[in-house]
Amino acid sequence: MLNGEKILITGLTGQVAGPVARALARDNEVWGIARFSDPNARAALEKAGVRCEMADLAEGDLGHLPGDFSLALHFAVAKSGNFHADLAANAEGTGFLMDHCRNARAFLHCSSTAVYEPNDHELLSEDAMLGDNHRAFGFLPTYSICKIAAEGMARFCARHFDLPTVIARLNVPYGNGGGWPGLHLELMRRDKPIQVHTNAPSIYNPIHEDDLIAMLPRLLEVASVPATILNWGGSDVVSIEEWCGYLGELTGLTPRFEPTTHTIESTAVDTTRMHELIGKTQVPWRKGFKRMVEALHPDLLEGGTVHE
Ligand SMILES: NC(=O)c1ccc[n+]([C@@H]2O[C@H](COP(=O)([O-])OP(=O)(O)OC[C@H]3O[C@@H](n4cnc5c(N)ncnc54)[C@H](OP(=O)(O)O)[C@@H]3O)[C@@H](O)[C@H]2O)c1
Repeated sequence: MLNGEKILITGLTGQVAGPVARALARDNEVWGIARFSDPNARAALEKAGVRCEMADLAEGDLGHLPGDFSLALHFAVAKSGNFHADLAANAEGTGFLMDHCRNARAFLHCSSTAVYEPNDHELLSEDAMLGDNHRAFGFLPTYSICKIAAEGMARFCARHFDLPTVIARLNVPYGNGGGWPGLHLELMRRDKPIQVHTNAPSIYNPIHEDDLIAMLPRLLEVASVPATILNWGGSDVVSIEEWCGYLGELTGLTPRFEPTTHTIESTAVDTTRMHELIGKTQVPWRKGFKRMVEALHPDLLEGGTVHE
């Protein structure tokens, strides 16, 4: 684990960065920024020892932050649906941030596998075609393009500031706070349909938050100039159909699938480079999913058939 570092984390109030910041605050000086659109999020983070500061990346006003961070972890993402606002926060914001952190030892830019053009059930490697996979279906219309634009900015800043950078394309993060599989569990609780692509099965690489946290030291070690780019997902490829089936076994609930072309198509990734550079993930997906249900709805586990 990281120890004794002075770390700046963005996207502090989000699904991914919150657990990361709380874990790192045990042994490091952790500063975090967000606009704190949800004021309640701040108290829990401060209680965990995270120094919270308000900042809007779209404005680039980071002058109130120290300039001597040893590491920076950039998880913030804006997805308002307005291209002007989202390019400012995601692409220009990445530039402002990397300028501010130009003296850090390493910079992690969290990207997304939403940058890829799906290709049937191909496991997408870092060299696969990029595309606009979230927009075509009216789902987060600015997301893919803004994540690609932000990667471009991160690549430029790595070289311009000679700032060792790693661009990690995250797949499907989940944990005790939920995530996409957690949303599926909620749909099952309410007996609502779960959209899957007609080109079945819909495959991904879910990755537990414990693995995200455990992989950070190695990820930061492989930061380089020009930036290192790698996929960041669970070592197991799992389909939505399979994981919802397992959630059903755990809870006794029955997933109701709605096959459609109006949802994201399979975006599972080739993890070869990740395995070579930072290793395999350690939380088997079934164990991780069971822990997620235990954390979100322990009562539901009594209805299922899996009790080990
Ligand atoms: N969650 C997923 O399924 C998933 C999948 C693949 C990749 N990723 C990537 O993982 C990273 C974290 O995602 P997430 O799901 O945790 O995000 P999230 O829950 O949507 O949180 C986004 C964070 O960004 C902050 N933010 C938004 N606009 C900002 C601005 N203008 N200035 C400063 N902060 C701003 C938000 O806080 P305020 O609103 O308070 O400012 C919030 O803390 C992102 O890079 C995302 O692309 C996520």
